[in-house]
Amino acid sequence: MIRVKRKSKRQSKRIPRNFSMLGEDELPQMRAAGQLAASLLDMVGPRIQPGVTTDDIDNWVQEMTDDLGAISAPFGYHGFPAHCCTSVNDVVCHGIPDPKRVLKDGDIINVDVTPILDGYYGDCSRTFLVGEPTELAQKLVETTYESMWRGIAAVKPNGYVGDIGHAIQQFAESKGYSVVRQFTGHGIATDFHTEPQILHYGEPGKGDMLPIGTSFTIEPMINLGDWRCQVLDDDWTAVTVDGKLSAQFEHTMVVTATGVEIFTLGAQEKNPLLKNV
Ligand code: MF3
Ligand code: CO
Ligand code: CO
Repeated sequence: MIRVKRKSKRQSKRIPRNFSMLGEDELPQMRAAGQLAASLLDMVGPRIQPGVTTDDIDNWVQEMTDDLGAISAPFGYHGFPAHCCTSVNDVVCHGIPDPKRVLKDGDIINVDVTPILDGYYGDCSRTFLVGEPTELAQKLVETTYESMWRGIAAVKPNGYVGDIGHAIQQFAESKGYSVVRQFTGHGIATDFHTEPQILHYGEPGKGDMLPIGTSFTIEPMINLGDWRCQVLDDDWTAVTVDGKLSAQFEHTMVVTATGVEIFTLGAQEKNPLLKNV
């Protein structure tokens, strides 16, 4: 996710040069990169259990990415020292894998991967349960997942970023949670983070318009308590200010003539937008 940038009104009226638009001919590459990203999460999911370290996860991601002939975008990105982000409990995002961070029963952990295949980026994340977290934690994770899908369901050709943000915020807040504002989704294709910036809160009809071909992520971070977060001294790890739990899910997608195509669907993941399958 990227840090929120403010734009002038004038700028938001036109499509900026670094707005992420795909041609028809680029869909196969985005599908392949997205499927690879999803397969990394499919691989790590079942291995996550008490006793595993976040550095173990990083090693698995590194090995599988390498085996599949891809490159990990996070490694060296603005100096990021690892191949994925591992964000445990009150870590909102950008947690750095660490051999000393041993997962314990009851933790929740988001793993965020972004392989580059053939020059194209696939970016997705899921929050996994370690052992058996409290019902409070499980509910937060479930609601965060549904918040992401509510956001995805709001995508339509020539719709607005505000439609997505509103759908997410309205649902998450109705359950008593808060939406992180400091980090957003982003355009993605042959670059990691471009326009449009996808805010996970907002008003319908507001913000950038999303024409057919726009490729971007939706990646809401939902907090149990206050939405505010702060970045630790390592300049990466973002934590909730109140120390309460935060969860996140992320998919990469493109706007189509009929709605949206998701590139990073997991092998076991049902797309709830496809009603008749
Ligand atoms: N994958 C993250 C995102 O969703 C970005 C991670 S950047 C890193 O945008 F450098 F921290 F890896
Ligand atoms: Co992202
Ligand atoms: Co990501």
